[in-house]
Amino acid sequence: MTSTPKNKPDTAAPKGMNKGLTSYGDAGFSLFLRKAFIKGAGYTDKALDRPVIGITNTGSSYNPCHGNMPQLIEAVKRGILMAGGLPMDFPTISIHESFAAPTSMYLRNLMSMDTEEMLLAQPMDAVVLIGGCDKTVPAQLMGAASANLPAIQLITGSMLTGSHRSERVGACTDCRRYWAKFRAGEIDAAQKDEVNHQLVASVGTCSVMGTASTMACIAEALGMTVPGGASPPAVTADRIRIAEETGARAVQMALDGLTIDKILTADAFENALRVLLAIGGSTNGIVHLAAIAGRVGLDIDLPALDRMGRDTPVLLDLKPSGEHYMENFHDAGGMATLLRELKPLLKLDAMTVTGRTLGEELEAQGPGFKQDVVRPFNQPIYPQGAIAVLYGNLAPGGAIIKQSAADAKLMEHEGRAVVFENAADLAARVDLADLDVKADDILVLKNIGPKGAPGMPEAGYLPIPMKLARAGVKDMVRISDGRMSGTGYGTIVLHVTPESAMGGPLAHVKNGDRIRLSVSKREISLLVSAEELAQRSKDNPIPEPSATRGYRKLFLQTVTQADKGVDFDFLRSAQTKGKTPAL
Ligand code: FES
Repeated sequence: MTSTPKNKPDTAAPKGMNKGLTSYGDAGFSLFLRKAFIKGAGYTDKALDRPVIGITNTGSSYNPCHGNMPQLIEAVKRGILMAGGLPMDFPTISIHESFAAPTSMYLRNLMSMDTEEMLLAQPMDAVVLIGGCDKTVPAQLMGAASANLPAIQLITGSMLTGSHRSERVGACTDCRRYWAKFRAGEIDAAQKDEVNHQLVASVGTCSVMGTASTMACIAEALGMTVPGGASPPAVTADRIRIAEETGARAVQMALDGLTIDKILTADAFENALRVLLAIGGSTNGIVHLAAIAGRVGLDIDLPALDRMGRDTPVLLDLKPSGEHYMENFHDAGGMATLLRELKPLLKLDAMTVTGRTLGEELEAQGPGFKQDVVRPFNQPIYPQGAIAVLYGNLAPGGAIIKQSAADAKLMEHEGRAVVFENAADLAARVDLADLDVKADDILVLKNIGPKGAPGMPEAGYLPIPMKLARAGVKDMVRISDGRMSGTGYGTIVLHVTPESAMGGPLAHVKNGDRIRLSVSKREISLLVSAEELAQRSKDNPIPEPSATRGYRKLFLQTVTQADKGVDFDFLRSAQTKGKTPAL
């Protein structure tokens, strides 16, 4: 038996409409029937002989971040037709951050399964994945990685910024900032409602370096978008041109057999992690990259990521770590400008969707120009990478902190724990006038991890208790096993592993315990003895969360911890290829 050489398309394998025939026990009849049905929609045999390019339609009235979907699909189809392919768009789940309960993360794996199965079930030679809002791009890359066919990512693009009383504003860092002002009594309800009109000035994804922008930059760094695919805002002509180019590129990928496994290599993940650190990216980027990597048999090496962070400065001056918004990044040349600065640190031989390497594409972009959004390598906005990995008896499996968005004064801090048992407890007590809390205390929130909430919601950004906020306190050390929106800021320790709902040490923290955070030593410690901790664990066994039916049951039985990407264990690749980054 002969096998097809690597990087060469398998010319004998079924193509286009002949792929993946429905089982009726007679292949000829299956194709006959399929063609009869599609001809019902007016297709000719000539059209049906072309390479078939699937397009995931993730438009939804519940998802304004994908509000330009009709224009994008039209442009992708134009690109596909111009390149000789046949476009076939189809729906998958769409998830928006503010319209998914209990949290969008709970549904990310479901969207990845939907994407994988639809890519495998329907005949297509390549697929254009259209995503943008936080969980959609990771879900699509996870699903496509498992389906392993030629796949290319198209980002919906960022929203435009708005203006409130002449101040430029954009979701969602400014949403949180204005909400904090309202809680502190600095603005009244009328002004809160006024700014609400301006925070999201158009369709598209959040305009700061939140998770959506982070995943857009990561997708380009992975080699999964056409060059320049990360930064054009949703409503611009540049975004539409990128869509057309993406469609055309997908046809060539189908003809060349450029499957996703040739792009999502260990080197590609190393480039993506490097970019995540240099852009001051969302902490969620680590979880999503761990999940995508798991689909191709790779593990993210957290200690190596921390080492990488020590020689990767934050160069991108975007909120919440800096000052600008995504549209400014695009004006400044987008990812090419950033990658040029990072060039000595990148794996330039990594393959991209263009069939050329990252290095070749960067070379083709030519020299940069004067701009003030991406700093030169030797003049960073923060000298080390945005994210540090912490270990200690409170987080034996690791925790992270976005140091570039934290208060420098709190990064070496010891304080008294003020404990909330879960999100409901937090909501019920955090604003009570008689809450025993001081500015130098450490707020601890349990049970918001992958199984605890469930779905690891972005509740790790604990609000400053009302009485302290009104007294002018802007930041406190906050610790949880949950996540934080990429648009959040503060001295916030996240992803504590193992989570409290699994009986991790966090479950046994009590009010009044002392906790030490040392970012310089990468330490997060509960200052109680090992014996005392073991005794607490014995006295207070934690029952594992469970459910009796449905998706929730599947979720609770199979979801992994943060270091494995919060993916379902059975969706990870059966193959183990090692760890990345290799430092
Ligand atoms: Fe969709 Fe922020 S809510 S990207």
